[in-house]
Amino acid sequence: MERFLRLSLGLLLLATGLGLLLRLALVVPVPFLVFSHALHAHSHTLYFGWAALALFTLFFERVGASDAAVRRALWLVVAVSLATFVAFLHSGYGRPGVLVSASSLGVWGVVVTLFLRRARGRRELDVAWLRVAAWYVVVAVGAALARVALLVTKQDALWGQLAVAAFLTTFAGFFLFGLVGLFARFLAERGAPLDERLLRWQLWWMTPLTALTFPLGVPGAMQTPLGPLSRVAAVALVVPAALWVANLWSASRHLASTVRLVVRSVAVAWALKAILETGAAFGLTALAASSRHAVILLLHLVLLGVVSAALLLLLGQRLGRPSPGALLVHQFGVAVMTAGLLLVVGATTAGWPGGRLGLWLAFAGGAVVVAADGVLTALLLRRAVHLGPSAARR
Ligand code: HEM
Repeated sequence: MERFLRLSLGLLLLATGLGLLLRLALVVPVPFLVFSHALHAHSHTLYFGWAALALFTLFFERVGASDAAVRRALWLVVAVSLATFVAFLHSGYGRPGVLVSASSLGVWGVVVTLFLRRARGRRELDVAWLRVAAWYVVVAVGAALARVALLVTKQDALWGQLAVAAFLTTFAGFFLFGLVGLFARFLAERGAPLDERLLRWQLWWMTPLTALTFPLGVPGAMQTPLGPLSRVAAVALVVPAALWVANLWSASRHLASTVRLVVRSVAVAWALKAILETGAAFGLTALAASSRHAVILLLHLVLLGVVSAALLLLLGQRLGRPSPGALLVHQFGVAVMTAGLLLVVGATTAGWPGGRLGLWLAFAGGAVVVAADGVLTALLLRRAVHLGPSAARR
C-alpha cells in the first residue's frame, strides 16, 4: 500500500510542477506550452492521481483492506491518472482526453464500491466520515455524466458550467469529508482527540449542505432556482465550519509544537474558506464573474492550504517522516500565492495598482510550495529506500 502513497507524491510533484509553468505563463510567454491542455492535465492529475489516490489508499488501510482486489483497483487509479496527464497535455479535451476521462468514471465506480463493501459493518465515527466521502464521489460521477449528456444534447452552456462546478465541488467535498475522518483518527492516536459529539453533529450538518454550494461562483447561476439554495447552504455551513475549527484548534493543544502549528494553519485556511464562501453568498460571486483569479484563489486556498497540507501531514506520519518544518514552508508558499492572487483580483475588479506584481507573487508562492513538497517527498522516498517498507511502517 505504501507504493501507492509514494506514487501519489510523485504525481503531486509532476502536476504542481506543471501548475508552476501555468503560473509563469500568466506573466511571461512560455514556449511549447498549450495553456488549456496543460490546465486540464494539471487539475485532473491532482484530483485523481494526488488527492484521490492518497485518500483512498488511506481509507482502505483504515478499514484493514489491502487485498489483491483493492490493490488492483488502486493500480487502475494510477493508470487512469497517468493516462489523463498524458492525454490532456497532448490534446486537451480531444478524443483521447474525453475517452480517458470517461473511463475514469468507471474506475471511481469500482473503487467506491470496493471501499463501501470493505467498510461494511464498521461503526466508528471516523469511518462514518470516510463513508460519506465515498458517497460524495458517487455524486461527483453523476455530475460528470450530466456534463457529458449536456454536451451531447448541446444544452444551454450555463447548465454545462453548473455540471462542471457540481463535479469540482463534490469531488472537493470528498477530499474534505475524507480528511476530517482521517484527521480524527490521527489526532486520537496522538492523544489529542477531537470532541466526538461535535464531530457527529458536524457530519449530520455538513453532509447535505456541502453539495448544495456548487452554483456559487458560476456566472448566471444566481438567476436559477439553485442560486438562492446555494446561498442558504453556504451561510448555514458557517456553523459546522466554526465548530470544526474550534474543535481542531483545541485538540491540537496536545500536539508537539511544530505539528500543532501545521494543524492550526490548516484550521486557519479552513476558516478563511468558510468566510470567503459566506462572502460569496452575500455578493462576492460578482468578483468571480469579473475575475477568474478570484475562483482560482478560493480553489487553491482549499486544495493547497487545507487538502494538500493535511494530506501531506498524514502521509508523512504514515511513511515514517512527518517533516512538519517543510509543511510550514508549504503553508507559507500558499499564503504568498493567495496574497498575490488577491492583488490580481483587486487590480482586475477595482483598478488597484500592482496586478503584475500580484501575478509574480502568485508564481513565487507556487515555487515555494513546489520546493517544499519536493523536499518533503525526497525525505520520504529516501527514508523508504533506506529502511524498506516494513521499517517505514513502524
Ligand atoms: C504549487 C501548486 C499549484 C500551482 C502553482 C497551481 C497553479 C494553477 C494555475 C496557474 C491554474 C490556472 C489559473 C487560471 O486559469 O487562471 C490552476 C488551475 C487549477 N488548479 Fe492548480 N496549482 C497548484 C496546485 C493545485 C492543486 C494541489 C490542485 C488540486 C488538488 C489544483 C487544482 C486546480 C484546478 C481544479 C484548477 C482549475 C482548472 C479549470 O478551471 O479547468 N491545483 N492551477
